[in-house]
Parts: sequence; structure tokens; C-alpha cells
Amino acid sequence: MNFFLETLKVLVLTVYYILEAIFLWFIPIRKKNVAGEIVLITGAGSGIGRLLALEFASRGATLVLWDVNREGNEETCRLAKELGSARVHTYICDCSKRQDIYKVADQVKREVGDVNILINNAGIVTGKKFIDSPDSLVEKTIEVNCMAHFWTCKAFLPAMMASNHGHLVSISSSAGLIGVNGLADYCASKFAAVGFAESLGLEMLALGKTGVKTTIVCPYFINTGMFDGCTTKWPNLLPILESDYAARKIMDAILKEQVFLVMPRSLYFVFAMRNLVSVKLGFLLGDYFGAFHFMDHFKGRVKKD
Ligand SMILES: NC(=O)c1ccc[n+]([C@@H]2O[C@H](COP(=O)([O-])OP(=O)(O)OC[C@H]3O[C@@H](n4cnc5c(N)ncnc54)[C@H](O)[C@@H]3O)[C@@H](O)[C@H]2O)c1
Repeated sequence: MNFFLETLKVLVLTVYYILEAIFLWFIPIRKKNVAGEIVLITGAGSGIGRLLALEFASRGATLVLWDVNREGNEETCRLAKELGSARVHTYICDCSKRQDIYKVADQVKREVGDVNILINNAGIVTGKKFIDSPDSLVEKTIEVNCMAHFWTCKAFLPAMMASNHGHLVSISSSAGLIGVNGLADYCASKFAAVGFAESLGLEMLALGKTGVKTTIVCPYFINTGMFDGCTTKWPNLLPILESDYAARKIMDAILKEQVFLVMPRSLYFVFAMRNLVSVKLGFLLGDYFGAFHFMDHFKGRVKKD
């Protein structure tokens, strides 16, 4: 196609897609049925992972729950069964270890079957200034928050591609879209998770595997305990999210096969602005939104032992 024709085609489709987006804003989008689908959730032993497991359990999915924390994972299993879910399989898997992921993935394929929906949710945070963060924790943050996504996709994506049916869900963070003072290694891991998920989604499109969907989730702070002590300057503009609300929104995005979910909505404005304003103005707005002090009182999840 020559330059003129291709440009004309793009202009016409641009107008069409804008009108389609406006139209879809007003009509409810069909949600997919996940009954009978095999859903694997990493980090299912608490917080968002547990709440997502319960959402899928109540919709009749077969659950595969991974966590390093046996006690938490078994509690999620118990709660899912209470909701009537008959098919729940728990596995201890340390997502910071590639060989552990491959070993447990093989076990899942043998014992349960091919995974249809893969939710990379396990995550950790050091919460220290970068200079004070022990090297081992920096490495672990990258391994759990990002590299684990490589290995789980390597393990489960081939079957999704073969059947042209599947869904990759990446639980990243708003810290995967913008740098945050006091979260350098965490931000690096979450930016990487976003870049990986977005690129892999494009790879599926380019290969014609349109049945393999991608959802990338970028929430602000959620009150699961992971970021206990962190504060927000203007709760009305940028509220700390309730975990039940966040899990429901994530579930909704998965069922609607939405590619990006950013929460709360005000962050869409922040991210749109950051590429439009000067660096100085960006810092001023960042300071206004409290970005320099989010982590000042970080305590994180207090370990029981
Ligand atoms: N809580 C927030 O404010 C917030 C905000 C944005 C994004 N997120 C992201 O959401 C996801 C879920 O976070 P959450 O708030 O539910 O935290 P959480 O601490 O409640 O849950 C994380 C789970 O991951 C598990 N886990 C940790 N290391 C693991 C490993 N090596 N292998 C396997 N499992 C491991 C933990 O045992 C835990 O069950 C994380 O990826 C987190 O980065 C959280």
C-alpha cells in the first residue's frame, strides 16, 4: 500500500476507534465466563491474591494457588472451598527461584492440566532507601516481582498459544509507571513487569494469537498490609484503596479483557500530564501529590516470627 492510502486508512480508523471508545463508555461490556477455566494465582496466600482466588472460586473456576507461605495458602484454599469451590489445588512455590517455578509448573500440568488464566501477583517490597537496601533483597525484589513473570510465562504460555486461548494477568503497580522516592528497586521491578507484559501482549498480536489476552494492573497503595505505614497527602484525590474494592476492579478488568487497569482513576490524569509538562513542573506537581513523602513512615507487613 502506498503512503497516501495507508495514511488515509489510519486516519479513518483513528476516527472510528475514538467513536467506538466513546460508544463503549456508555454500554456495558460483555464479561467472559471463567467457569471450568484453570486459574493459577501466585502469591495467593494473602492480600490481593487471596481475594482474587475467592472471586474466581465464586465463578466456578479451578484454582491453582501458589505461595511460599503454606499457612496463608491453605487458609485461602479453605475460604475458597467454603464458597463452594470443589477444585482447589495448593502448591508451595518460591517464585524467586526459576528452578522451583519450572518444577512446580510441571507438577501442575501433570496433576491439574494446562493453565488458562495466569495471574502473576506475588510481590515483595524492601521499603528502604536504595543505598540502605541489602543487595540480596534488591535481587529478590527483581526475582519475585519481575523475573518470576518470565518463568511462569515460559512454563504456561506455550499451551495457551497452541490452543489460541488464554489470559496473562500482570499485577504491577502505579510504581511501574512513575518513579517513587524510596522505592527504587521496587519501581525497577514493576516497570520491568509492565514492559514485559505489554511487549508479550504485542508478540501475541503479531503472531495472530488473538485468543491470548493480556491485562496489566497498576494500582496505587492498597490496604493489604504490604505498605502499612505509608501515607497519602490528599486522600480525596489519591485515596489508599480498600483491598476488596481493588480486587473487584481487577476481577472486572480480567472478565472484560481490559488491557490496562490503573487505580484510582485520578492517576490516569497524572500519567497523561507527566509527558506533557516540563520536568520542573513535574517535580512541583509530584510534590503537590506527596510523591516525595509516601514512604516516610513505611512499616510494611510485620512478620509474625
Ligand atoms: N498493597 C499495595 O499497596 C499494592 C499496590 C500496588 C501493587 N501491589 C502489588 O500487588 C501484588 C499483591 O500485593 P498484596 O498487597 O496483596 O501483598 P501481600 O503481601 O498481601 O501478598 C503478597 C503475597 O506474595 C507472596 N510471596 C512473597 N514472596 C513470594 C515468593 N518468593 N514466592 C511466592 N509467593 C511469594 C506472599 O507470601 C504473599 O502471600 C504485589 O505484586 C504487589 O506488589 C500492591
